[in-house]
Amino acid sequence: MQNNVHVIDHPLVQHKLSLMRNKEASTNSFRRLLNELSMLMAYEVTRDVPMQEVDIETPMEQARVKVIDGKKLVFVSILRAGTGILDGMLSVVPGARVGHIGLYRDPKTLTAVEYYFKMPEKMAERDVIVVDPMLATGNSAIAAVERLKELSPKSIKFVCLLTCPEGVRAMQQSHPDVPIYTAAIDRELNDHGYILPGLGDAGDRMFGTK
Ligand code: URA
Repeated sequence: MQNNVHVIDHPLVQHKLSLMRNKEASTNSFRRLLNELSMLMAYEVTRDVPMQEVDIETPMEQARVKVIDGKKLVFVSILRAGTGILDGMLSVVPGARVGHIGLYRDPKTLTAVEYYFKMPEKMAERDVIVVDPMLATGNSAIAAVERLKELSPKSIKFVCLLTCPEGVRAMQQSHPDVPIYTAAIDRELNDHGYILPGLGDAGDRMFGTK
C-alpha cells in the first residue's frame, strides 16, 4: 500500500476485475461484474465508518447492538460512469444519501468541466465517499473533491476500480488528505488519457454506448 492508497487485492475483487478487462465481455456482464465488485469494495471502504449503539429486543432478551447510521454517509457519484459503482454500493448500504456531480472531460484539454452539482443538505455532518470507476488523469476526481470541500464534510474518501501512477500522483498532490481505494494501479496513462492496460472507456462499456 502506498501512502493513503488502499489496493483491494482480495481474490474475488481481482478475479472480477480481470473478467471486466476482457474486451469480449458483454455490456451485460460488464455491468453485472461492476455491480458485484462495487459491493466488495464497499465492504473495504466502510470498514471504519462510525457506528452507534441502539437498544433492541432479540427473541430472547433486551440487547444493546451496533448499527451504522447510513444517513450520515453520502455516496457521491461522478457522472456518468460513477453510476455503476453507486448501484453496487447502495445495495449494501441502502440507507446512504446520494450526491451527483456532473463532470465531463474536455476531449482536447482533458480538463474537467462541471455541468451538474446536487448534494444532500447538512454536508458538514456527513462522511463522503466519492465514486468514479477510473482515476486516470485525476482531473475529474480533483475537481469533484475541490468542490465538495467547499461544503466541509466530516471526511472524504475516493473509490475507483482502476487507477495508474499518474492519477494517484495527481490526486495525492492536490488532496493528500483523501484516501484512495482501488482494485488496481495499472502501468500507465496514454496520450489520450486512457489507462493501460486498463479496460477501455468504463462509461461506454457499462452503458453500451460504443
Ligand atoms: N476513463 C475511462 O473510462 N477509461 C480510461 O482508461 C480512462 C478514463
